[in-house]
Amino acid sequence: MELINYVKDLNTNEELFPAIHRYAVENRVPIIDSDALNVVKQYIAIKGAKNILEIGTAIGYSALHFASAAEGVHVTTIEKDETSHEIARRNIGESAYSGNIKAILADAKEAELGDAEFDFLFIDASKGNNQLFFDKYKEYLADGALIIVDNIFVRGLIADDNVENKNKRKLRDKVRAFNQSMKDSEYTTSFLNVGDGLLVIY
Ligand SMILES: C[S@@+](CC[C@H](N)C(=O)[O-])C[C@H]1O[C@@H](n2cnc3c(N)ncnc32)[C@H](O)[C@@H]1O
Repeated sequence: MELINYVKDLNTNEELFPAIHRYAVENRVPIIDSDALNVVKQYIAIKGAKNILEIGTAIGYSALHFASAAEGVHVTTIEKDETSHEIARRNIGESAYSGNIKAILADAKEAELGDAEFDFLFIDASKGNNQLFFDKYKEYLADGALIIVDNIFVRGLIADDNVENKNKRKLRDKVRAFNQSMKDSEYTTSFLNVGDGLLVIY
């Protein structure tokens, strides 16, 4: 047995939202990798996070999982695509967590959240805007909040020095610059080789 399959088996949990997961797979909606999801949920539980802000709802899959991570977790999640937002609202409304999740239709580059305060930020939208999202939404975080950024490997693009496509090269360079700026910052960082790469910032 290959090590990777051995670990995958040990990490596999019963899917809490099988219909939503199936819909995502069948319709190629990009949702968080299952190993990465386990790690993020564990951080939520260990930290005792109660107010999570998510950038990038898609159809509400990760928001529902986050709400289920521990008792009394509230999630505010922002999505700019109207169709995805509507599907997310329906999925959330039909779940046991409808009172725990607030889905906002807005471009996260411009959204305003008033005096809301969060103890956990999950960034999972347009990868080239990670720095912008980080700078904008850290203003809404309580002291000691935890930030996790998904897809920091950009599906392998990050380590490819020979990218021919100009737009892909630009995206790679933006994500590389963001990752480096976080490493060089005053924050404590962990770059985790799980899923498509998670960056944990404290
Ligand atoms: C990877 S998907 C999110 C997946 C979701 N977090 C999950 O794991 O179930 C990224 C989502 O971010 C949304 N998005 C991209 N740029 C955005 C922006 N500027 N503001 C809000 N949402 C954005 C996309 O429309 C897409 O639905």
